[in-house]
Amino acid sequence: MARIVMRMAIGPHKVIVGSETKFICGCGLSKNQPFCDGTHKTTAQTEEPGRVYWYDQEGHRHECLESFPGIRSA
Ligand code: FES
Repeated sequence: MARIVMRMAIGPHKVIVGSETKFICGCGLSKNQPFCDGTHKTTAQTEEPGRVYWYDQEGHRHECLESFPGIRSA
């Protein structure tokens, strides 16, 4: 089953485990889940506020405006 999940984070969450610092992906685009691989840097800089995007498995961005009129945002 496929799902479209709206994520608002545009960067990683810093987590300290013992003496190690880890960065957990918050944008959902990392190919090294659950860890950040830096992909957010290439997408967040070109996304426009107020628009909704989705990314396919190859990482290509698509914009959806009226595609999901009932989308849950909270
Ligand atoms: S936060 Fe997702 S790739 Fe960095």
